[in-house]
Amino acid sequence: MNMKDQSLRVLMVDDSEDDIQLIIRELKKGGYNPVYERVETADAMKKNIEEKQLDIILCDYEMPKFNAPSAITVLKKANIDIPIIIVSGTIGEETVIECMRLGAQDYIMKGNLSRLCPAIARELKDAEVRSKKKQAEFQREAELDALRQNITEYKLAEEKLQQTIDKLKHVIDASMQVMVSAVETRDPYTYGHQLRSTNMACAIATDMGLDQDKKDGIKMAGGIYEIGNLCVPAEILSKASKLSNIEISLIKEHSLRGYEMLKNVGSPWPLAEIVYQHHERMNGSGYPRNLTGDEILMESRILAVSDVLESMSSRRPYRPALGLEVALEEIEKNKGILYDNAVVDTCLKLFREGRNS
Ligand SMILES: [Fe+2]
Repeated sequence: MNMKDQSLRVLMVDDSEDDIQLIIRELKKGGYNPVYERVETADAMKKNIEEKQLDIILCDYEMPKFNAPSAITVLKKANIDIPIIIVSGTIGEETVIECMRLGAQDYIMKGNLSRLCPAIARELKDAEVRSKKKQAEFQREAELDALRQNITEYKLAEEKLQQTIDKLKHVIDASMQVMVSAVETRDPYTYGHQLRSTNMACAIATDMGLDQDKKDGIKMAGGIYEIGNLCVPAEILSKASKLSNIEISLIKEHSLRGYEMLKNVGSPWPLAEIVYQHHERMNGSGYPRNLTGDEILMESRILAVSDVLESMSSRRPYRPALGLEVALEEIEKNKGILYDNAVVDTCLKLFREGRNS
C-alpha cells in the first residue's frame, strides 16, 4: 500500500484546535490520511476508546479538565491495546519518565514534530505484532478448548460404552447360568467336569498372562463348552459299556451342536467359536473341522488341555479314572503335537507347584 493512502484513525486528547491542526499537517506530511476525534475529558475519552476503532492516541500533557497521566489511566483501565503518545510542550524529564511508567509509548515535543510520524509508524508496527500474537494465542486457546471438549465427550462416550458392555456381560452371564443349570439337571457328570476343567483353564490363562478379556471369555465359555451334549441321547452319555462307532460319532457332534446353539448369542467374546474348537488338535487330528495351529483360538487350546486332563483324571461311566499321572503324561507326550506348547508347559508347571486349580 502506498504510504500516501494510509488512513490513520486518531484520538486527539487535546484542548487546542490550533495544536491539533499542526499535528494533522505533520501527519499528512508523513504520508498519513488522518481521521480524528477530539476529546478533553475522561468520560469522552472512555466513550471513544470503547466504541471506536482507533489506531493511535495523541495526548497533550496538561488540559483544563484532564491530563496525560489520567488519560493513560483511563486507557489502561479499559484494557484496550491502543498506542498512546504524549504530544506536548516541554514537561521535563521526570514527568516524561512518569508517563512512560504509566504506559505511554513515547513523548514528542510540540515544538519539534519531526519524530512524530516515525514514532507512529513504529507503534503501529508493534501494535500489529501484539495483535497477531494475541490472535494466535486466542486461536490456540480455542483449539485447546475444542480438544478438551472432545476428550470430555470421548471419555463420556467411553464410560457409557463400558456401562453398556458391563450390562451386556451381566445379561450374558445370567443367560449362561440358565444353560449351565440345564446341563447340570440333565447330566450332573458333564456339569462337574466342566466346572473343574474351567477352573484349571482359568488358572492356566492367568499364569500365561492372557489379557482380562480372553480370561473372561474362557470363564464364560468354560461354563457351557459341553452344552452340545444336550443334543446327545442321555443313555449314550451315561452308557457304562463300550460305545459303538455310531454312538461315538453322535457324541462327537456335540462341538457342532454347541456352536449352533450359541452362534446367534450376541456376546463380547467368541463363545460359539471357542466351544466349536475345544476338541481341535494342533496337528489337525481333532474334530470337527481338523483345524491346525494358529487356526485354533488360544481359549480353545487352553480348554482342550484342561478338558483332557480333567476327563482322564476322572471316572467316566464307561471306565474308571485313569489317574492324574497318566493324564499329565498324556499331555506332556503330545506337547506341540496335539496340544499347544505354552499351554502344556504352563499346565505342568502349575501342577508341579501345586497351583492346579
Ligand atoms: Fe467336549
